[in-house]
Amino acid sequence: MHHTSLGRDGPERLAAIKLFAELSGGQRQMLARLLDELTADLGEQVVREGEFGHEFLVIEQGTADVFQNGERINTLGPGDFFGEMAILEDGVPRSATVIATTPLRAIALTARFMREMRDRWPSIGEQIDHAAAVHRESDARRAAGS
Ligand code: CMP
Repeated sequence: MHHTSLGRDGPERLAAIKLFAELSGGQRQMLARLLDELTADLGEQVVREGEFGHEFLVIEQGTADVFQNGERINTLGPGDFFGEMAILEDGVPRSATVIATTPLRAIALTARFMREMRDRWPSIGEQIDHAAAVHRESDARRAAGS
């Protein structure tokens, strides 16, 4: 996996991602200077179940599979994000493993930055909280064996 800064076309790239769609041009310009991109090769583990996590990822290009206890539970693609649970539930380890199923490009946010963005921009906070609730519920259902 490789981290680099977003580069000149960062604001336009952010505009194409639903999570960031409601930000103004100026806000996207500011964000683009602060965020990193992460690239991963096919087959690479981006987050690992049971480890501590400090990063939130929004897929820009490519796809990834989500595994729990070795079982594939979901497939993610452009616009989907992951890694929010360990950050929202401070100190709780990663709930799943996420593996790139194509070369992957994602926007990477530190835990601190994700929390700040969630507090500052309600449209983003709601999307993150909604996804976390959906994931938590489906994981609980699976754990209950139904
Ligand atoms: P986190 O627990 O930080 O790291 C693993 C991530 O996998 C988790 O955050 C969610 O973003 C994601 N995840 C967990 N459960 C599901 C699910 N049922 N469907 C899709 N993504 C999930």
